[in-house]
Amino acid sequence: MVDKLNGREIKICCATFYESDIVRMFLGDVLHPGGLALTCHLGEVMGLSARNRVLDVACGRGASAVHLAQHFGCHVTGLDYSQDNIAAAEEHATAQGVSQLTIFSNGDAERLPFDDSAFDSVISECSFCTFPDKVAAAAEMARVLAPGGILGLTDMTVNGTLPEDIQPLLSWVACVAGAGTPEQYIETLEQAGFIDFTVEDCNAALLEMVNDVRRKLLGIELAAGLGKLDLGDINLTKGKHLAKRAVELIESGVVGYTLIAARRN
Ligand SMILES: C[S@@+](CC[C@H](N)C(=O)[O-])C[C@H]1O[C@@H](n2cnc3c(N)ncnc32)[C@H](O)[C@@H]1O
Repeated sequence: MVDKLNGREIKICCATFYESDIVRMFLGDVLHPGGLALTCHLGEVMGLSARNRVLDVACGRGASAVHLAQHFGCHVTGLDYSQDNIAAAEEHATAQGVSQLTIFSNGDAERLPFDDSAFDSVISECSFCTFPDKVAAAAEMARVLAPGGILGLTDMTVNGTLPEDIQPLLSWVACVAGAGTPEQYIETLEQAGFIDFTVEDCNAALLEMVNDVRRKLLGIELAAGLGKLDLGDINLTKGKHLAKRAVELIESGVVGYTLIAARRN
C-alpha cells in the first residue's frame, strides 16, 4: 500500500504510474481534472502575461506548459520526476512550435534545481498531494519565486477519513493517498511564506473526469464483449466499482479538487 512506501518509493511509484500506457488510455496527456480549460483559468487567476517566467512543478508530459506558452506567450520551465515524461514534453513543445518558450528538466519538487527568485510564477497541477514532504516542496516553491511572485495550485483534496474499501484506489492513484484538506495545504503554504490566498472549489471538474473514465470503461467492456479488444491485465469489474465509489466520494464531499493561488511575501 502507498502509505507503507518511503518518500523515494512514492515518487517513483507516482512517476511510473503517470507515464504508463493505461493512464494515457484513460486520461490522454493532460493528467489533471478540468483539462487545459482549468489550466487557462488558473493562469488568469494568477494574472499571467508574456512577461512572466513560469515554473510548472511536476509538469507531466508538458501539456499545460505548452498551453500556457501558447495562450499567454510566457516562458515556461517544466520539471518532472519522470524522465520519460520530460522527453514527451520536449517532443510536444517542438511539435506545437513553442520550444523557444519552454525548457523541461528532470528533477524533484522537494529539491528544485533552480536559483533563488528564478521565477515570478509557479504552478503545480494535481501534484502537490503526491509529494511526500509537502513542507519541503512548499519551501522550495517559495525559494524559487521572487518576492511578490504568484503560486497557483490545483489539487486533490480529502475531507475526513477515506473508507477502507477505497484502499485499492489509493494504490492505483497515488495522488489521493497524500491529499489533505484545503486548510492543511493553506497552512503548509503560509508557513512557507505565502499570503493573500484565493481558493476555488473545482469539484465539478473532478466529477467530470471520473465520469469520463467510467464512460471509457463501458466502451472498453463493449469492445471486449464483441471480441474486438484483449483486456490483458485490466480488471474491468474492479475498475467500474472503484470509479463508482469515486463518484460517491466526490458527491458526498469526501474527495474534491481545489484551486489555491497565493502570493510569496
Ligand atoms: C497527476 S500527474 C500531473 C502531471 C501534470 N501536472 C498535469 O497536470 O498534466 C503527477 C505528476 O507528478 C510527477 N511527480 C511525482 N512526484 C514528483 C516529485 N517529487 N517531483 C517532481 N515531479 C513529481 C509525476 O511524474 C507526474 O508526472
